[in-house]
Amino acid sequence: MGRDSYDLRAAYDAKSLRFYDAPHVALLYAPDPGDPRLTADVGMYAQTLLLAMAAYGVSSCLQGLLSFYAETVRETLGITGGRLLFGISFGYADPAAAINAVTVGREPLEETTPFHR
Ligand SMILES: Cc1cc2nc3c(=O)[nH]c(=O)nc-3n(C[C@H](O)[C@H](O)[C@H](O)COP(=O)(O)O)c2cc1C
Repeated sequence: MGRDSYDLRAAYDAKSLRFYDAPHVALLYAPDPGDPRLTADVGMYAQTLLLAMAAYGVSSCLQGLLSFYAETVRETLGITGGRLLFGISFGYADPAAAINAVTVGREPLEETTPFHR
């Protein structure tokens, strides 16, 4: 799917807003007031959660997109305070689902990490 494949991207986004049909979503909030160090803690918590899920055979998809719907989530669930950073949709993956055929590669280490010697 190319960046200019607008119809495909819209279909992907629509699926995304239904959590890719995952049965659960965890919504992670930064506490008020917004100390950046606390936000970093949430990131580390999320990473541990993702690794624990993987260890138990539970598949997950971190979704930053969900933070754009923070107000909808707030109204629907009656949440007060905090700032929605992202959601993590999770469940046991259906290998037959087309979305699970999408694979994302990794940039080589030298592209992402400058080394200062
Ligand atoms: C901070 C962050 C935000 C992301 N937001 C989204 C998102 O909104 N929607 C989405 O489909 N994938 C999002 N992704 C990508 C997926 O969570 C996942 O990393 C990607 O599909 C690659 O899968 P893999 O890590 O299993 O290879 C995000 C990843 C990160 C790290």
